[in-house]
Amino acid sequence: MLIYPVFVREGNNIIEDIPAMPGQKRYSPDKLPVILERAAKNKIGGILLFGLPEHKDECASSAWDDNGVIQQAIRLAKNEFPDLNIIGDVCMCEYTSHGHCGIIKNGFVDNDATLEYLAKIAVSQANAGADIVAPSDMMDGHTLAIREALDSNNLQDTLIFSYAVKYASSFYGPFREAAGSAPSFGDRKSYQMDIRNSREALKEAMLDIQEGSDMIIVKPGLAYLDILKSVKEKFLVPVGSYSVSGEYSMIKAAALMGWLDEKKIAIESAVSQARAGADIIITYFALDLAEWINNGEI
Ligand code: PBG
Repeated sequence: MLIYPVFVREGNNIIEDIPAMPGQKRYSPDKLPVILERAAKNKIGGILLFGLPEHKDECASSAWDDNGVIQQAIRLAKNEFPDLNIIGDVCMCEYTSHGHCGIIKNGFVDNDATLEYLAKIAVSQANAGADIVAPSDMMDGHTLAIREALDSNNLQDTLIFSYAVKYASSFYGPFREAAGSAPSFGDRKSYQMDIRNSREALKEAMLDIQEGSDMIIVKPGLAYLDILKSVKEKFLVPVGSYSVSGEYSMIKAAALMGWLDEKKIAIESAVSQARAGADIIITYFALDLAEWINNGEI
């Protein structure tokens, strides 16, 4: 049920702290086993890999480079930990010079021009060995474009775990520092959802499922439990709740100040998402939670 997000950066012999997310690190591919060992030992549901390339350009070419940092990481993870589910994040913002999740035309993200790039990224990750691809871009039609590209490249067995419902949230702040993916101009409100709108969540979920998503994500987690619950009640596919970076950092910061009990809050937060209907929880506490469960502490 638990998925752990991992940041992989280019280079060798690197494990570096992420200041805004105490306890989380960026790993160079050769150092990934340090963390994957813990994930495999605790038999978590999978890991979600985010790539941080050295080279960024207008069309995110490092994202679909078969020897890119994410592809190297996927290959290594799958080779060394064959039983661990490997999920690739499919998006462009970590790889574009402007930090947006798509192709820019006339100063705006062009939805349809972006689709072919997302498809290339997904195919490249699946070829590297990803069991599941997770498009987080929020372009309309992304699941269909990716499904068709996977199928026509003999990758019918690769699952799509799409971010169907992703709000334009300020809770992603620490992630953008971690991944170096803040937009250099404007915001993501032309492709991510308006935080005031709940019914659009159902429409977005319906479209992604119709296009072929095997599982869908609602994001953020804790502040959007109403959305999670209504999506879960309406649809039959497994629903994942992404407890995002801001949720993690708020708990960590309060715990560092001695104001909250980190462990109890991490557990309560995960339990709340499960109670609201999450079949899967993507969380930076995944390894801790799994260890507490396996030790019989939860
Ligand atoms: C990339 C992406 C983001 C997150 C996951 N994939 C950031 C964003 O949309 O700006 C956020 C995850 C987190 O905050 O933990 N599109």
